[in-house]
Order: sequence, then C-alpha cells, then structure tokens
Amino acid sequence: MARKFFVGGNFKMNGSKESIKEIVEALNTLEIPDSVEVVISPPALYVHWAALHLTNPKVAIAAQNAFPQISGAYTGEISAPQIKDVGAEWVILGHSERRTIIKEADDFIAEKTMHALKHEVGVILCVGELLEEREAGKTLAVVFRQLDAVTDKVSDWSNIVVAYEPVWAIGTGLAATPEDAEAVHDDIRKHLAEKIGKEQADGVRIIYGGSVNGANAKTFNSCPDIDGYLVGGASLKPEFKDIILSRQ
Ligand code: 13P
Repeated sequence: MARKFFVGGNFKMNGSKESIKEIVEALNTLEIPDSVEVVISPPALYVHWAALHLTNPKVAIAAQNAFPQISGAYTGEISAPQIKDVGAEWVILGHSERRTIIKEADDFIAEKTMHALKHEVGVILCVGELLEEREAGKTLAVVFRQLDAVTDKVSDWSNIVVAYEPVWAIGTGLAATPEDAEAVHDDIRKHLAEKIGKEQADGVRIIYGGSVNGANAKTFNSCPDIDGYLVGGASLKPEFKDIILSRQ
C-alpha cells in the first residue's frame, strides 16, 4: 500500500510573529509534489497566525499539545476543538520533551489521542527511547509500551501518524543511522499489525525524528518503513525545503 510521504516541522518553543510568517511565506511559494504532505507545528500562540498567512493547500498546521477536555477550568491548556477552530488539523502528542520534562504518562497521552481523534484532529504520536534504555537493550520494550497505551484505547489508526524519535538523537546532531531507524520502524509496523491488524498497520505512516537535516534526509530514502520525518531545528531553517523535496 502506498503511504504518502509526510514531513512535519516541529518548531517547539521557537519563533516570533515575524519569523513564523517568513517560514509560512516560504512554504506558500514552494512547489510541493502531490506525493508529499507537509505539516508545520508552531507554538500554540502562533497557530492562528500561521493559519492566517498560509495559502499553500499542501501544507497543514499542527498544535504541539492538546488537553483531553473540550473546555472548562483547565488553566493553560487547549482543546482539540479550539485547535480546529483556529485553523489547525493536527496535533503532536507524546513528544519526548513532554514525556520527560512535563512528566506526561502513557495513559494520559492515550487519552489525549482519543480526544483529538474524536474531534477530528489528526495525531502525530511520538514514541522513542532514552539513551540509557537503548544501551540496556530496552528500545522495543519502551516503544511498544508507549504504543500499546494507545492501541489499548484506539482501534482506528487512520488519522494517526507515528513518529519514532529516539531521544538520544533529538537536537544532538547525531541522527540514527538509516539501518538502525529502519529496523525499529519495521518492528513497530510488525507490532502494530499484531495489535490493530496487518491491513491498518500497512497504512500507518511511521516517520523518523531526531537530527534530520537537509543533508541527511536523502540517506533514509531506501528505507521501506520510513514514511517521512518529524523535523525540529531544521524546520526553522531554509533547509526545511530540502527535506520536503528529499524523496523525489
Ligand atoms: P531535532 O530535529 O531538532 O533533532 O528535533 C527532533 C524533534 O524532536 C522533532 O519533534
């Protein structure tokens, strides 16, 4: 089954009105092939701003988090309907920075995933192991545990993109090798097949994140289970376009 190449740009807590407008305007004039889907994720404050300036129908917007309630007394939080209301169609959930710094638990991330999907917001679900977990041979156990929190609650994965982001590769300049990343992606797909069925698992995009840049993106092109990238630092730079156009 053909899976559409997916490139996400996670701006994290970076940017200003001016710099985000510049990035959006650069994307507006970029010729993006029909075979590529691009999603940018500015900080929540700038989601609406980005949506106001975006004119390229091949680019969508994601929030970086959502709380699993529609509205109410949840100071500082945002809901999936609000995300949609200001022009975004996706949300990043389970990012390692939220798992480790904010201490979000697997179950909470699964609840958020259910909430977003229920309100028709697509989910970029991040999973990945810490360096010490990799060194202890626990990569798959960790990744499967993070995935199973969601497979236990969600049976329809058609609006989920899985982002495998080994924590040791994030922001370090040391991307996983294509061989190491492909091996984990292949294992994730096999695991998903057991949990949600082979047909669905074959359709789920599994994208790689961790120090992807304009120069190394092409090195993953021969990996059959790497369906795109979730890009941090390089999504703020002109080289983001090289990543978007890397699989030609
Ligand atoms: P870097 O591309 O900066 O390593 O960040 C990856 C990431 O965390 C994307 O969500």
